[in-house]
Amino acid sequence: MCGIFGYFSTIANQDIIKILIKGLYNLEYRGYDSAGIAMLDINLNVYSYKSQGKVSRLDALLETQLHNNFIPAGIAHTRWATNGPPTENNSHPHHSDEFWVVHNGIINNEEELKKLLTRNGYSFYSDTDTEIIPKLISYHKSMGKTLVDAITDTLQSIEGTYAVLILQKNVDQIIGAKNGSPLVVGLDDTSQTFVFSSEISPVVEHTRKILTLEDNQLILINQSGIDLFIDMVTRENVDIQKQVETTVLTKESASKGGYDHFMLKEIHEQSKAIKDTMGPQNDTYYRLNSEFGNVNLGGLKEADQKLREINRIVLLGVGTSYNACQLGKLYFERITRIPCSAEESPDYHLNDPIIDSSTLAICISQSGETKDTVNALEEVKTKGGFALGITNRVDSQISKLTDAGVYNHIGPEISVASTKAFTSQCLLLLMFAIYFGRQRDLGKDEGQDLIESLKELPALVEQTLQLEDQIKSLAQKYANQKHMFVIGRKYNAPIAMEAALKIKEVTYIKAEGYNAGVLKHGPIALIEPGFLTLALAPKDSIFDGMTNSMKQITARGGSIIAITSEDAPVIEHAQDVIRIPKTREKLYPFLLTPVYQLFAYHLAVCKGLDPDKPRNLAKSVTVE
Ligand code: M6R
Repeated sequence: MCGIFGYFSTIANQDIIKILIKGLYNLEYRGYDSAGIAMLDINLNVYSYKSQGKVSRLDALLETQLHNNFIPAGIAHTRWATNGPPTENNSHPHHSDEFWVVHNGIINNEEELKKLLTRNGYSFYSDTDTEIIPKLISYHKSMGKTLVDAITDTLQSIEGTYAVLILQKNVDQIIGAKNGSPLVVGLDDTSQTFVFSSEISPVVEHTRKILTLEDNQLILINQSGIDLFIDMVTRENVDIQKQVETTVLTKESASKGGYDHFMLKEIHEQSKAIKDTMGPQNDTYYRLNSEFGNVNLGGLKEADQKLREINRIVLLGVGTSYNACQLGKLYFERITRIPCSAEESPDYHLNDPIIDSSTLAICISQSGETKDTVNALEEVKTKGGFALGITNRVDSQISKLTDAGVYNHIGPEISVASTKAFTSQCLLLLMFAIYFGRQRDLGKDEGQDLIESLKELPALVEQTLQLEDQIKSLAQKYANQKHMFVIGRKYNAPIAMEAALKIKEVTYIKAEGYNAGVLKHGPIALIEPGFLTLALAPKDSIFDGMTNSMKQITARGGSIIAITSEDAPVIEHAQDVIRIPKTREKLYPFLLTPVYQLFAYHLAVCKGLDPDKPRNLAKSVTVE
């Protein structure tokens, strides 16, 4: 949700425009309504360029600019519009006479701060809340405060969230600060180069040494390096070394690696994502313990005793992560017999949920930054519940706010449509279920049996991905559909919901996911000749039920693509049949998933859409 990027180096003669634009391309999945940059020239004047639309438009605009007079100090922004439409005027950086600011976050007390500034003679040219920041800094400075006091007083008066980068006219420096939104700084000591970013991927091509800022911290970088690194509340210096780490990410992990889109690359990475989830950093299946029929989850170790005492589980997430929660609920209740519910995070804190100290909440979020899920988590903590997190982003907000947790460790997911993260989330939930099960009634044999079948998953997923050519030709056949149903039952019902979400997100086809059993109670009214349904129907315990649903659809002239398993009988009621490898019932979600993902992807491509950047969406949604 908005990406900010900045670059400062003591080495002259660098193409700062190219560096900033490259940074923005890498962050574009966070928002692509408009983009802008601001840089200093050799006389320390600030030049700012903005454009509505994707980064490529700004890039094209800048082709016509002279690149020679700038020093390597600049800030950049890619926007997902919240306050005001995505016009050039509303694009960042926003400025006063002296300061230029890029901002990721939201200011809730916008009106109050605007009134203060208006009373003191300031006016506003945009609809954004961000414009307040440079003007408030100017205002505080005009009151005789030092630069650092003017900035900290400004930022401390903000109710809401921010990660900001600030450029000042006539001063060769960049200031960064954050509260509630992420900000990292890449440090290349050898070349005295500093790279600011909302997240690590754009930094790794410059350096892998990363300083992750914590809330209320401010950093000032100038020709002498890190000149100031303070906590804005205490105004005391912070120990840099405690927050510096060398990331395991490489340049390659943030590139398309020969695929046309990140979405396709990430779909194809799922066999590896499963292996990484079961054994991070190439440590084959480290998290699976065959001997005890259990899992080794280091992140849960210290919470082990507490987790034995819980008697109710609430799974919290939104969007794709919520769909993983729905599958997780089925795994938990079946394997652990602990009552479990899956809740959509946005309204959770509004409904006065029942939580006590025996309630365990598990917050699932790829980004670890989703505001709705953070709100739900805070409600759990306020009411004394115990909280675990499943996140892919190390040191994200959710990973810090939860009592304990486990990382997916599947590398960055860049496509806005979540694919490999969903697979990894479902897998971790199944692994959590084995863990809680083994703490209770799940026998060693059953545990071992589950663990052994998990080890077969990477190869089965790889085999499933080989079906891409068939799936692609079906996408070409059905690309003109306006509406679609996806149906499944039992473990595959949440997968139907996720399939429909994926199709909606990247193709704009009105796809609805249903438990197939529900169809005849209403939705079937929409079936008419030619109406397409994707039926998730492997040969499992509910196969006959699925067959009945398919019959009900074809009896009304509807068309069906059945995704079944290779051991299923001929499905007469389907126009098209895709056969995935045979596996055990609980694991079919992992084999059905690459199929609908590839179907959604190829539908989008057939329709001439960019699956990596669906309209109106952004990757991590850090506003309510
Ligand atoms: O980062 P999170 O997993 O918390 O994100 C939650 C949703 O915003 C996310 O899953 C969204 O639905 C994706 N666009 C799905 O593809």
